[in-house]
Amino acid sequence: MAGCKRIGILTSGGDAPGMNAAIRAAALMGRAAGAEMFGIEEGYKGLLKDQIAPIDPAAIAHILREGGTILGSARSKEFHEVPVRDRARATLAKHGIDGLVIIGGNGSLTGAMKLADPAELKGQPLNVIGIPASIDNDLALTSLSIGVDTAMNTIVEACDKIADTATAHDRTFIIEVMGRHCGFLAMTSAIAVGADLALFPEAGKPEAAIVEQIVDTVIAVRNRAHRQHRGRRVIIIKAEGVAIPVERLKDLVDARLSEKVCDSDPSGIETRVTVLGHVVRGGRPSAFDRLLGSRLANVAVRALLAGTSHKMAAWMAPAELPASVATLSPADPYCSLVDLRTVLAETENPQQGQTALAHWRAGAFEEIEEALLL
Ligand code: F6P
Repeated sequence: MAGCKRIGILTSGGDAPGMNAAIRAAALMGRAAGAEMFGIEEGYKGLLKDQIAPIDPAAIAHILREGGTILGSARSKEFHEVPVRDRARATLAKHGIDGLVIIGGNGSLTGAMKLADPAELKGQPLNVIGIPASIDNDLALTSLSIGVDTAMNTIVEACDKIADTATAHDRTFIIEVMGRHCGFLAMTSAIAVGADLALFPEAGKPEAAIVEQIVDTVIAVRNRAHRQHRGRRVIIIKAEGVAIPVERLKDLVDARLSEKVCDSDPSGIETRVTVLGHVVRGGRPSAFDRLLGSRLANVAVRALLAGTSHKMAAWMAPAELPASVATLSPADPYCSLVDLRTVLAETENPQQGQTALAHWRAGAFEEIEEALLL
């Protein structure tokens, strides 16, 4: 297809800090190249309600420092149905929109793929390029998604604060962080925080084993503290994907600790829990997320202008990816354009992924788990 002339931008799914930087760069870049740029509000829901308007450059000039997304976001279950997607395509046709930049995670990019399915398009011109944005970092074929860096920084800042009070009281803290089914945020922030243990769903451990792991960690830290005159506080980062509610985990750990610890003051071991929740998703984007959003948007819009479709702009040099699914972006030597269908297939089953990145991630989870308590 010829290059796109009227391009819509849409953010969908859980918002991620840095989405605004991507919106801004996409709109400015497209406009500079002569395309007409449109904002679609509230993700696919807004598309169905025809909430589409041209983007005023003045309105987006200063948004890159803001968290969330100025376009708004939503999760739209109804988009799974073909007649619903037909309505969305009709709305796009009404506005003459022939290109879409979809900024979001797994569900959002799945929606993009279906919206631009050639069998459903029936000749309607519509190209789509995805931009990975999700604090979960659960999308395949990109080493990072927009929002992950800011979320990690938020977790580290919160854990540093908790560590102060944990140290003062020699307490054990179990801190739950977002990430849906993916343990990436828990694992990487555990390293950055210097945590004693990370609990993540990829380990696939049953409840009893997790409790034992925590108790063993607490005892090991106390023994080490005794030998080396070090503090006895314990920081444990738990991914939300580990399906035990934190309060239940605390009760099980406390019960097991009182059975296992036979020192003079077993009551001296105190456990507390903190769920960081949506705090992790908010806040001003880090400098890196602003850059990442801007660079991936530049790559995505240039691809649409060149008539490319069904790709995701990825933060990975193509040398790291199989040549059959990735090409170097002519706009940025650190970014690739990767096949969207392959991204979604690999994301479906991350532990079984076929790419070098998938293998590395699976191995890294195991190695880091063992290395934390030194
Ligand atoms: O996908 C981003 C995310 O923040 C996940 O980490 C979390 O499980 C989920 O969204 C929460 O969704 P909601 O904001 O709809 O409750």
